Formats: sequence, structure tokens, C-alpha cells
Amino acid sequence: MSDAIQYEKHGDIAILAANNPPVNALGKAVRDGLLEGIARAEQDGVKAVLIYGEGRTYFAGADIKEFGKTPLEPYLPDVCTRIESSPLIVVSAMHGTALGGGLEIALGSHYRIAVPSARMGLPEVLIGVMPGAGGTQRLPRLIGAEKSIEVITSGRQIGAKEALELGIIDRIAEGNPRQIGLAYARELIDQGAPRRAVSEMPGPEPIDFDAAYEATLQKGRGQISPATAVRGVQAAAELPFDEGMKRERELFTYLMNTDQRAGLIHAFFSERAVGKLPELEGVEPRPLSAIGVIGGGTMGAGIATAALLNGLSVTMLEMSPEAAEAAKGRISGNLSGALKRGKISQAEFEEMTEKALSLTTSYDDLGQVDLVIEAVFEEMSVKKEVFTKLDAVCKPGAVLATNTSYLNVDEIAAVTSRPEDVIGLHFFSPAHVMKLLEVVVADKTAPDVVATGFALGKQLKKISVRAGVCDGFIGNRILATYRTAADHMILDGATPFQIDEALEEFGFAMGPYAVSDLAGLDIGWAVRKSKRAEGLHPKARDVEFADRLCEQGHFGQKTGKGYYDYAAGPRSRVPNPDVPGLIEAERAAKGITPHEFTKEEIVRRYMAAMVNEAAKVVGEGIARRPLDVDMTLLFGYGFPRYHGGPLKWADLQGLPELLADIKRYAEEDDYFWQPAPLLEQLVAEGRTFDDLNKEAA
Ligand code: COA
Repeated sequence: MSDAIQYEKHGDIAILAANNPPVNALGKAVRDGLLEGIARAEQDGVKAVLIYGEGRTYFAGADIKEFGKTPLEPYLPDVCTRIESSPLIVVSAMHGTALGGGLEIALGSHYRIAVPSARMGLPEVLIGVMPGAGGTQRLPRLIGAEKSIEVITSGRQIGAKEALELGIIDRIAEGNPRQIGLAYARELIDQGAPRRAVSEMPGPEPIDFDAAYEATLQKGRGQISPATAVRGVQAAAELPFDEGMKRERELFTYLMNTDQRAGLIHAFFSERAVGKLPELEGVEPRPLSAIGVIGGGTMGAGIATAALLNGLSVTMLEMSPEAAEAAKGRISGNLSGALKRGKISQAEFEEMTEKALSLTTSYDDLGQVDLVIEAVFEEMSVKKEVFTKLDAVCKPGAVLATNTSYLNVDEIAAVTSRPEDVIGLHFFSPAHVMKLLEVVVADKTAPDVVATGFALGKQLKKISVRAGVCDGFIGNRILATYRTAADHMILDGATPFQIDEALEEFGFAMGPYAVSDLAGLDIGWAVRKSKRAEGLHPKARDVEFADRLCEQGHFGQKTGKGYYDYAAGPRSRVPNPDVPGLIEAERAAKGITPHEFTKEEIVRRYMAAMVNEAAKVVGEGIARRPLDVDMTLLFGYGFPRYHGGPLKWADLQGLPELLADIKRYAEEDDYFWQPAPLLEQLVAEGRTFDDLNKEAA
């Protein structure tokens, strides 16, 4: 018998206990074990079978590591069918998370019981597939088509109470799954309860499936798995069970072979791998309970909010009592949002705003904090002044962090007597909402300070990515390059509106020009002015149309006009009719003959610029692995998750083709389009970015 399922005869009940840590994923050994266990129970003279999971959970799903490889027998749908067709009464007792294939095993059982804390769901669409072991056929027979569509297309987890109300489970009981399962099986045997197969129940009442499909497709912003799952539920309503199962299999197999599935699974594993750094193995982070935040603007207040929400006490330093009060107002505003959404209680709100938060205008009050983050004006001289003061007052061992988004952290560290304690912690605004944290490791940063940066990220529920020092670190450096590629396309003939449309179709929530309008065009204007003051490279193309908008006082959403006109509100943008004229004037002045760009060309060039810069970032060691870049773009820059990240996308497109594109673009502009040495090397060796991820694992 397979070790992954432990068999035990307990009177007239056979027990199949899953033992496949950490989450009892339904890998081949588990599936083998379930089949063997059912067969043995049928030979063993028992009346019922109990299935449950040892450890932290019932089966948390199919083994995602097997996805994308040749499927191994026995297949999960056959295991569910075999369980269901047993003449014995089969009871599943759930705890932890019964997800995906796990819930499908439970639905193949005849009776379902759960502990009150159990959660369940069919989250397959989130990894680019759909339920493939009867989930779309059995769930609708229990809870109807409409509710099934909601549950399956959202992939959400349902608590035991709701599951009972919906009719997914039969009972909730306190205890451990073995105890409650045995008691329930005993009761069913004693009552002479019948064997009960969901597949034998009538299919759900039909609804307007085409409308549900279209609505789901629309909501998915290009992601196809949720809409495809609707067709599975439709089959439950329109076809006999066995044929419905076949249809589900076809749809599932189709999704399994898509790039979106590969992208989403890459995201799933990378999200978990990104915080695991070999260099930090065995390195203890420094203790962390009180932090200081310098500067209570949007960023500083957001950081303070995140810290308060996650159990840290915060000393907020501002320049004047008035500024400190304003900072407190911002923090309370953020926290009352959390209160309104039910994330914290009134008592917690009061504790956070009245006790855990203190305000000061004196650096001396930062003497006892474990870590301090500055979020002051983005200028080197200002940062240096702050760090000199921190060096004078902070206790030995305190971590001194800068939230700079592009300044040199080595240079900042150098003004202190303790550069080993200095690190960059680059949050994204609003910092209590955005998931990304770049942990910027300077030359002299001590390993336990890096570990503390990651520990803080974990405590604040962020996705933390290790970055090295360079202008813009990982994210902003790559952003600067692909934004420039977009600006060049505009000079050469595209419009901002076409570019936004093409990239929104690619899956970004907002195109780059809509994003600029949201962030404020004055930010880019200031950067361009300072770059010009430093002196542009003679071969660099300067881009000025955005300056014209700024000169007219149009800074985007905050002034009501930018690339778009927001007269009807921030959500109803219409192209600003003056923009094409500004662009044409610049083309004419520069002697550029514009040409048309197709949407496909726009996406290709934009992505080529992103991938090329990302490859430089990895090649130079600014990001340790390609997946670090992928997670940065996913969690900080709205990159569509279903493409996996720019470097996963590049792998799926084919690196030789992308390099060929870049070389072709270089014929027009060999300064901007310099192929990344790492990309050339991978192409020459016939390898992919993902190979580098695997080597680093
Ligand atoms: N297949 C293979 N490995 C899985 C897995 C699965 N279905 N689900 C989780 N794991 C692995 C994780 O990769 C992680 O491995 P690591 O420790 O090497 O990084 C480990 O199990 C623990 O998972 P983690 O997510 O860190 O734990 P958690 O307690 O925060 O969350 C779950 C547990 C089950 C809720 C979460 O892992 C999850 O949502 N899994 C996917 C469930 C799913 O989509 N199932 C449907 C597939 S059909």
C-alpha cells in the first residue's frame, strides 16, 4: 500500500488517512493509495469508509507540480468516480483547506462533514485551469448552476458554515477530522443510511449560459479559464453526467495546454519562492516590534498604516506639530477604511490610533525603535541629512532604512558610522495596499539586516523581492525603459490612446499613459528636466510632448486633464483632443515621418523593451533570478498575472524570436535597443529564463 494513504480497519469502518505533507496534494502516490484503500475496504468486510487528512489539512488540491507534464495514471476523475461507485458508504471529513481536487474527492464521497474552521472551494481557475475531476458536474447538482458559476469562476474559499447552508456539506462538528468522521460514519451505519451519489442526482436548472460566459470573459480581462469553466457548468445542465464529465475533461485539457496556465502556475510557485534566499538560510532577523517612520506624506502614512495593521508600534516623525497632525489624519483615514471594511474592530482601531501610534518632531524619540524607515523628499542631500541624524540617535543594532525609489543606497549608507545597518525598503504607494516591497541590499548591508527586511515584509504581508543598487532598482529601472519605448512609438506614429488600448487588451488594468495621468505628469516632467540638466547621451532620443501638457498646467487626473480629459470623473476618461496636435508638432519639428503601428507591433515592442531591460537587470545581478523580476512586475506594476511576468512571457514567446525583434529594432535605433548580453547568451545556449530559476532553486 502507498505510504501516502494509511489504511486502518476500525471495527466496521475502514479509515483512509492521507499523509502527504505539507498540504496532502493529490499526487500520484495519493491517488494510488486511495484506489488501493477503497479496494481493500471492499474486501475487508467493513460497512463504511472514512477519508480524512493527517496534518494541517484535507487534500488541498491536485499536485500542481504534476501540471504541464504527461498525466500519470490513475487520473483524478477516475479516482473520484471509483470512490463514488463503491457499494460502501464513503464519508469525507474535512479540515484545513479542501480545495480543487480535494473538494472533488469530497464531492465523490457519499457524505461530507467538516470542522467549523474548514474552508473549501474550487480555485483551479486561479491557476489557469478549471475543475477537471467532476467539480463542474457534481457541484451544480448540489447548489445549482448560478451559485456554482459564482463559486468556480471566482475560485473563492467558502467557510464551513456557508458550505453547510449551500448544501455542499451535510454537517459541521467540533473535533478533529478523524473523531468527527468516525462518529458520523458510525451514526450513518447505525441508521442504515443509504449510499448517496451526487452524480445520480438530476442536473441543475439551465440559466442563460451564453450571458454568463460573456460576463465572465469580460470580467477576466483576457483571462480565459473562468469563462471556460462556465461551459463546464453548462454541460452539467445540458448533458447526462457521463457526457458532462467528458466535456469537462475536454475543456480542462484545452486549458491545461494554454500559456495562461503556464503563466499562472509560474506565478503561484514564484510567489512562494521569491522570499526564499539561499544566502539567508539560518540567518536570524533582528527583533522587530517598534518602528519609526520619518515623513508622514502619502507614502510614510501608508507605511505606518501597514505597520499598525500588522501589530507593530509606530513613532511617526514630522517637521512640525501641524505636519504631524496631518500625518495622523492620513493614517487614521487609512485605518478607518480598514474599519469600514470590517478588517479591524473599533477597539483595534482605537488601540492603533491612540496607543500604538505616537507622533513626534524630535529625532531623540527614535532612540529606542528597532527599525526606522525614512520617506522624506527624494533628494540625496535631504536623505543624507536624515541619516546623519539617525546615526546620532538610534540605538546600536537598529535597522536604518530608506524608502528611496531610485537614489544610491550605498551613498546614503556612507554618511553613517554603521553602513552595515542600512538598507533600502522600497514600498509602493499606497503602501498599505500595494503588495510589493523591494528589499534593496547595499554593498555593506549585513545579512541579518537583509533578513530583517524580509521579516518585516512578511509581517506586513508583502511580497518581498531582493534587489541590488542601481538607478531605479528592479522595478522602476525596467519601467523607465518600457515607458521610453512607448514614447518612441508615439514619436514614430502611434497615439497614446492606441498604446493604452493595446496594452489593456494584453491584460494591464491601465495602459501606460492612463497610469501617467493617475500618477501625475509632473513627476515625469521633473525627472526629464533633471536628466536634461545632467546631459542626455548624444544618441538618446528626447521626448517632449508630455512637457507641452505640463506647461499648460495639465498634470493628469489631479488637474482634470492630461493625455485624457476627466471632466466626467476619474473613471470616465476620454482622449484629450489637443494631444495629437502636440505630438504632430514635435514630429514635424524633428523631421519624423510617422507610420502606422498595429496593436500587435505595439505590444511586441513594449514587451521587447521590458524583457531586454529585465534581462540586463538579472545579468548584472540586480535581481538574483528571473522570477524576482517577474514578481516585481506582477505585484508592483500591474503586469497581468496570467502571463506569469515578463520573463516567463518571454520564455513562452521564444527567446530567439524576441532577440531577433530587438536586433531589428536596433537597425532604427542602436542606442536604445542594445541587446542584453544575458538574452544573447541564453539564445546561444538554447536555454530559457526558467532554466535559470531552476538552477537557482
Ligand atoms: N500542489 C503542490 N504543492 C502545493 C499545492 C498543490 N496543490 N498547494 C500548496 N503546495 C505547496 C506550496 O508550494 C508550498 O511549498 P513550499 O513550502 O515548498 O513553498 C507548500 O505546499 C505550502 O503551501 P503554502 O501556500 O505556503 O501554505 P499556506 O498554508 O499559506 O496555504 C493552501 C495552503 C493550500 C491554501 C495554498 O497553498 C493553496 O492555495 N494551494 C493551491 C490550492 C489549489 O489551487 N488547489 C487546486 C489545484 S487543483
